[in-house]
This record gives sequence, structure tokens and C-alpha cells, in this order.
Amino acid sequence: MKIVVLAGGLSPERNVSLSTGIMVTEALRQRGHGAALVDMFFGLENYTGPLEALFSAPVPEDAKRIQPQAPDLVEVKARRRDQGPSLFGPQVLELCALADVVFLALHGTCGEDGRVQAAFDLLGIPYTGAGSLSSAIAMDKDLTKQLVADVVATPGWKTAVCQEGNIEELTASARLPLVVKPVDSGSSIGVSIVHTKEDLREALRNSAALGGRTVLEEYVKGREVQVGILEGRALPSIEIIPQADFYDYENKYQPGAAVEVCPAEIPPETEQRLQAAALRVYEKLGLSVYARADFILDGAGDIWFLEINTLPGMTPTSLLPQEAAAVGIDYGTLCERIVQASLRARQAGR
Ligand SMILES: Nc1ncnc2c1ncn2[C@@H]1O[C@H](COP(=O)(O)OP(=O)(O)O)[C@@H](O)[C@H]1O
Ligand SMILES: [Mg+2]
Repeated sequence: MKIVVLAGGLSPERNVSLSTGIMVTEALRQRGHGAALVDMFFGLENYTGPLEALFSAPVPEDAKRIQPQAPDLVEVKARRRDQGPSLFGPQVLELCALADVVFLALHGTCGEDGRVQAAFDLLGIPYTGAGSLSSAIAMDKDLTKQLVADVVATPGWKTAVCQEGNIEELTASARLPLVVKPVDSGSSIGVSIVHTKEDLREALRNSAALGGRTVLEEYVKGREVQVGILEGRALPSIEIIPQADFYDYENKYQPGAAVEVCPAEIPPETEQRLQAAALRVYEKLGLSVYARADFILDGAGDIWFLEINTLPGMTPTSLLPQEAAAVGIDYGTLCERIVQASLRARQAGR
């Protein structure tokens, strides 16, 4: 097959995505596919050769390792030469139109949030993963929690648009500790765990500066466990044990910053409850192909759903690939199954 691997994009998670994209491209090629890696935002602005040649062109090595800091998007934006308004860089759509399927190695805003999926639906371009509506809902932590609250336990929350005018009121009425997070964040970007009113005020000020809606969620003390889903079946859970205080951006992507245990060392009955809960969320939101749900397991053994990722990290050491490996699905096979399941889901109307 001819597969375009779409990565990067104008997303705070663009570096993670480029890393995913390189690894997926290599794996698909090893399986005999033609795979072309392209940065969705920069496109082919420096490329003058034929598009077909990209399906076997060398893949850059430098973005494999993810920098400890998330990129500055203002600086990224300024680097694109044409300064055009489209989030698809030069020739990206032309390249995608040549492919049998586009592998979405994107993460976060502009990729995981359903807009690329909607554009591809209109253009008739097949792509991997969930459809546009389910992706958009899953990207919105508030909508997701509202929709799944009757099928899983999720920590109590409220949603606010933080502004100078309501920060004092939000602070005064808050019961601590709380987690403050943008409604559509990813990779822990913009997430703060606050234990004091002063920290809360600062987190809310940061949220006001970021703009958009903010989720104020009850903090649940416990173990962090995630469950991947592939083709409607739950994979073994994975426990993440951050070496610092929480699973922030740096802990997610620097080797050794977190210990990951797969399958998680939890009683079989808890594992079953986690897997069943992840599947209920997946089904409730109408997701397809693959996803990864985040939970906290508290001291009483209760499980609390935090969020579900529709385009989870896909480097070989990412969480979902580790979970797949635990049931004998190697990385190349996982990439292949995502492609095949996506084509089937498309035929079935997703
Ligand atoms: N309610 C909560 N209680 C405890 N920890 C939380 C809570 N919400 C988020 N966290 C921590 O913050 C991390 C990121 O939050 P999450 O909701 O998964 O957003 P995202 O991964 O999209 O940035 C989680 O992996 C967890 O470590
Ligand atoms: Mg998460």
C-alpha cells in the first residue's frame, strides 16, 4: 500500500507526533509498504522532486528523541515560509490524495480533535483511527466527562472560562486539592495540581492567559493506570510511576523519568473492571480502531476515569505499543492492524 504518515502539525504536541511519525514510517516500510512521512504544518516547502519519490525517501533521525520542553508555537508558526492561513502546509493534500490511506501520527489540537478527520472525510481521503465527531468529543474533557458520567466514575469537576474578573470567586469557592487543566490539553501541557489557594490563583491566571475553557477537577490520590483498546478489545493495563510528583510533559517523554509496568501489578478483578470501564467509554463515544484511556486507581480500589486519547503516542516505547507487546502484538503488526482496521471501519461507515 501507499501510506502517507501525517505528523507534526501546529500542535503543542508536534514533537511527540514527529517522533511517532518517524517510527510508524519505518515500521510500515519494514512491512513492505511505501510510506511517506510529512509534517502537516510545514508540508513540502523545501521539496522540489516528484511526490511519488517520497514513499521511499530517507526518514530524518533527528526528531526521534523528544526535547524536554513543549515547542513554542508562535516561533513554529513564524518559521513557515509561505505564512499562509492553511494548517495544511504546501502540497500536503496533494500527497495525501496519492495514498491508499493516511496514517494519522498527529497528537493534540489539529489532528486528534477531529478537524483533520472532517477535512479528509470531505475530500474522500481514507485515514486511520476514529471518525471526526468521536475524536472531537474525546478531545473535550468536559463533554467527555458529561457523556460518560453514567457509565464510569469520573472525578467531580466544573468548567470555567477563567478571566481576571472571576479568579477570586473561583478560588474562594474551591475545595482543594484540585487539578486545573485546559479542556483540550494533551501530554499534561497546562495541567497543574494545586494544594493551596495561592497555587490555585496562579493556575487560574495561567489558564486565563491561555484562553479557552478550563476544567477544575477533584484531585484523586492514587496509582495512575491506563488501558489501551485495539479493534474494540481492551489490552492489558499499564501503570505509570512518575519519579517526580506527577506525570507531566517532561516525565512523559524523557527516558527514565517514569517507571512503566505492564501489565500493571493489580488484582485480576481490578484489571477486569478497568478494561470494562475503558470499553464502556470507547463505546459511549463511538470510537473506533484504537484508543487509550487514563484512570486513577485510589487507595480503596475504586477506579476513576480521567480522559481518553484517540490518537495515543505510537513510538515503540509508548504506552499503547507496550500494552500490545504484552499480548504478543509487535510494533510493526500493531501499525499494520491499525491501518487494516481503519480501512474496515471506513467501509463500515465508522
Ligand atoms: N483528577 C486528577 N487526579 C489526580 N491526578 C490527575 C487528575 N487529572 C489529571 N491528573 C494528572 O495529570 C496528568 C494529565 O492529565 P490528563 O487528564 O490525563 O490530561 P492530558 O494527558 O490530556 O494532558 C494525568 O496523567 C495525571 O497524572
Ligand atoms: Mg492523559
